[in-house]
Amino acid sequence: MDPRYDVLDDAARLARVFVDGLAERSVGAQAGIDELRAALSAPLGEQGEDARTVISDLVGSADPGLIASAGPRYFGFVIGGSLPAAMAADWLVSAWDQNGGGFDASPSLSVVEEVAARWVREVLGLPADCGVGFVTGCQMAHFTCLAAARHGVLRDAGWDVEAEGLQGAPRIRVITGAQAHVTVDVACRLLGLGAGRIERVPADDQGRMLPDALERMLAEGNGPAVVCSQAGEINTGAFDPFQDVVAVCREHGAWCHVDGAFGLWAAASPSRRRLLAGAQEADSWATDGHKWLNVPYDCGIAAVADAGAQRAAMTSTSAYVPEHAEDVPWGFDWSPEFSRRARGVPVYAALRSLGRAGLADLVDRGCDLAARMADGLAQADGVEVLNEVVLNQVLVRFDDDDTVTDAVIDGVQRDGTCWLSGSTFGDRRVMRISIVGWQTSERDADLSVAAILAAVCDARKTG
Ligand SMILES: Cc1ncc(COP(=O)(O)O)c(C=O)c1O
Repeated sequence: MDPRYDVLDDAARLARVFVDGLAERSVGAQAGIDELRAALSAPLGEQGEDARTVISDLVGSADPGLIASAGPRYFGFVIGGSLPAAMAADWLVSAWDQNGGGFDASPSLSVVEEVAARWVREVLGLPADCGVGFVTGCQMAHFTCLAAARHGVLRDAGWDVEAEGLQGAPRIRVITGAQAHVTVDVACRLLGLGAGRIERVPADDQGRMLPDALERMLAEGNGPAVVCSQAGEINTGAFDPFQDVVAVCREHGAWCHVDGAFGLWAAASPSRRRLLAGAQEADSWATDGHKWLNVPYDCGIAAVADAGAQRAAMTSTSAYVPEHAEDVPWGFDWSPEFSRRARGVPVYAALRSLGRAGLADLVDRGCDLAARMADGLAQADGVEVLNEVVLNQVLVRFDDDDTVTDAVIDGVQRDGTCWLSGSTFGDRRVMRISIVGWQTSERDADLSVAAILAAVCDARKTG
């Protein structure tokens, strides 16, 4: 064994200590920015250091600022953990160090990703022949899908956007629900579609797009149009009424995109997939692996029904890259990166280790535990759950008061039993609870409810 690689054993051992301790450590960071800078920002030396020293120092210095977001009681933003098989596969992706951009650069991992893409289509109920690209996250999945949309709607208008760009092109209308996730705006910005030009369809009190309003908006104009709907609103977890939304898009020849960063995984659960009725008829879907599938960062997935549009928007040719048949997997045909890590490999490992039943259980558990926490909290005086808990998201408000609500969030974060963040819903401050981690149990949910209610008592005493 080459001793230069002994550091890998160190890393495996140290990683094991970290993941084994996730359930016990304080969920939030224990060090602030000044402390972390002091510990980590040494001047770069002229001479290199021993790899084992680098890694042990890195772990020691970083540890106090690490968050137990991969653990069982982290409910902030929408952040999943890492299934053991997925984490191990991810380590191997680094050790193998293959370029996932093309078959010739990594035949095995290209085929693993091809299989992972097939399984993703199956579990999400997407068309068997849709294009699938593995990207860094849902923002880049939007970028990829909307680049395909831009190609598709302009192709239909007789314009080759890849060759000609947008200058002089027919104008593309982009329409989203009023509560679309900000990453849709960023994707529009990056694609030259102009975030400021997005037209917003009113939504109901759960953030669901109103299809009649969409219909009226689409009827007001003609020409290329892209509608961005959503499965899983960031605060409430609500789903747009896809059957109506897709039908309206069809009637007006608009491309229908779905932001399903976490909500698309409801398709894997027989008892929840009704929430997505009609979504599978859309034109493109953006989702994440690093949220509910519990693969390590980073992993987003971009799927497009018109695989030709996705490929046309993403692929490139170059004299030094071999020509390849359509059915040979080359990652760069489907995602914006030319070279990249083979992030579909952890997806393969996660899906294989879960199986269909395990994936359904993972989704159902997140939803059931969200309902359990909502019930446990709503029983206390002055605690109100503001959303319909249809999925894994719970919005809680305390004493119908912004200051108390923020004080409770702050208290919970300092306590460290669990971690969750705040948001503004309508014009009111709320605590957001999001459950996507594979480790969360009923006990974790109950411990967290108790910690939140204790923070409510403290906030009332000090307020
Ligand atoms: C609904 C929705 N869309 C998009 C995103 C962005 O995902 P990512 O952070 O992977 O880019 C999120 C992130 O939470 C989300 O909840």
